[in-house]
Amino acid sequence: DWKTNESDQALIKATWSEDFETLYLLGSKMYLQIFAQDATIKALFPWIAQYEKAGRDFTLETEFRTQALRLVTTIAKVVENLPHLKGLDMHLYKLGHRHVKYLSNALKPLYWVAFQDAMQNVITEKMKSITKISETDRARAIEIWKDVVVYVNTNMKAGYEDGLKGIDKYPTGMF
Ligand code: HEM
Repeated sequence: DWKTNESDQALIKATWSEDFETLYLLGSKMYLQIFAQDATIKALFPWIAQYEKAGRDFTLETEFRTQALRLVTTIAKVVENLPHLKGLDMHLYKLGHRHVKYLSNALKPLYWVAFQDAMQNVITEKMKSITKISETDRARAIEIWKDVVVYVNTNMKAGYEDGLKGIDKYPTGMF
């Protein structure tokens, strides 16, 4: 179970951005790292091959933009709703659970690792670029952000795995 304290939460909020273009750029970098790490993940998005066949750059297309934003808006939701972990646990679990509909047998356990690594790397880079905080805060921010990403993925993965077994921990949508 993830534990946070007030000063860590304040640091999370202070180092996150609400600027749409910044968020899009983060999500986009995450996906490009994920695809570079494992091409079989790229193949799960059939529109990519279609654009590539047509000689188009898929990163400029709406579908990519949408997918990139999905990652960062999920993180944004966690940032906005801290410290209400019970509601967040359920939201993330349900989101993971819905992935069974998209990928009933194509999502391998290793994919969670690829997503987790890419999300952590991109956020770490972003923390290194923030100059308005102290060196100590930056080092701490890098550590806490890694935990945020683990928290997101662990809850989503639990929902996905339960979904595969036909189990729903929150059948009424309440906790
Ligand atoms: C483990 C690897 C993952 C794979 C292979 C994957 C793949 C997919 C696919 C194929 C869709 C459906 C897209 C569509 O039909 O348009 C989807 C939807 C979505 N994904 Fe993922 N995903 C993964 C992890 C994540 C993570 C870690 C997050 C968030 C941090 C996330 C957030 C979302 C959201 C918000 C949606 C929109 C649908 C909904 O809300 O139910 N996914 N994903």
